[in-house]
Amino acid sequence: MAITKVIIPVAGLGTRFLPVTKSIPKAMIPVLNIPSIHYAVKEAVKADMTEVIIVMSKGQEGIVQYFENSNEFKVNKKDSKTLNEISYMNDKISIHIIYQQIPKGLGDAILQCKKNVNKTPFGVILPDDLILGKNSVISEMKKIYLQKKSSIIALKKVPRSQLPYLGVVDAYEIAKNIYQISGMIEKPRLNNAPSDLAIIGRYILPYDIFDILELTKPGINNEIQLTDAIRSLIGEIGVLGYQFAESHFDVGTPIGLLKASIHESMQIPEFANEIKSFMSFFKD
Ligand code: G1P
Repeated sequence: MAITKVIIPVAGLGTRFLPVTKSIPKAMIPVLNIPSIHYAVKEAVKADMTEVIIVMSKGQEGIVQYFENSNEFKVNKKDSKTLNEISYMNDKISIHIIYQQIPKGLGDAILQCKKNVNKTPFGVILPDDLILGKNSVISEMKKIYLQKKSSIIALKKVPRSQLPYLGVVDAYEIAKNIYQISGMIEKPRLNNAPSDLAIIGRYILPYDIFDILELTKPGINNEIQLTDAIRSLIGEIGVLGYQFAESHFDVGTPIGLLKASIHESMQIPEFANEIKSFMSFFKD
C-alpha cells in the first residue's frame, strides 16, 4: 500500500526556548536561516509524500504563513533559493493543519490525525530531530516498510547520559543497520535502559496504531506516549529499527540548534572560513 502521508507534530510547548516560544513556534526557530519545519517538509517531499499533516497548537499559525507562496519579495538569486524551495514544495505536497487542543503528549498528537489518514500506513517526522545528509531518512524507511511489511522506527546510538530523555529499545541486528525490536521504553531510568539505542523522530506506522493509541493510558510524565502504543505492535506485525548514518541534531535544545547552525554554515564556502577562524579564537 502506498505511503503518501506524513504527520509532523509541532504542538509542544517549547519550554527550553522560553520566552522566545511565547511568540514564535519552536519549529519556526531557524537553523542558521531556515526553520526546522522547512527541513521536515523537505524530507517528506524527498520521500515522494503528497500530504503533510501538521499538528499544532493555537498561536502557531506563523507556520501556515511560512508555507504560503509569496511573490512580493524582490530578492537576489541567492536569497530566493529558500523561497523557491517553498513554491516547489507547495507544488509537490498539500499541507493540512490539525489542532491539538490540550498538550497530552506525542501519542495524543498523532491520534488527532486518525480521520485524515484514512486506513493507510503513514510516516511521522519530528522536526526537533534534524537529520542532515544526502538521503531522506523517512524515504529509506518507507522502502524498508514496503519490503518487510513491518513498522519501522529510526534508531541512533547515544551516550548513556541521554537515555533518560529519549525512547530506548531492546533490539538485535538482523541485517546491516536493521534491527528487530523486542522491547521499548519511554524515558527510562538509567538502570532500566535496555540498550544505548535510542528512538529518533522518524516512524513508519500502520493505521492500526490509531486503535491502539485510543486505548493507551498516560505513561511517563502523564502523557500519552507513542512509544507505549508502538510497543503493542511488537507481538503483532513486528517492529524494525533503522540505524541511519546521516548527521543528527536535537534542535529542540539551544545547544543542539547551535551545533546544527554551525554544521550548516560549514557547508557554505563563504561562511566556512569565517566560522573556522572564529572558532580558533576559543582554542585553549
Ligand atoms: C519523543 C519520543 C521519544 C524519542 C524522542 C526523539 O520524545 O517520545 O521516544 O526518543 O522524541 O526526539 P520527546 O522529544 O517528545 O520528549
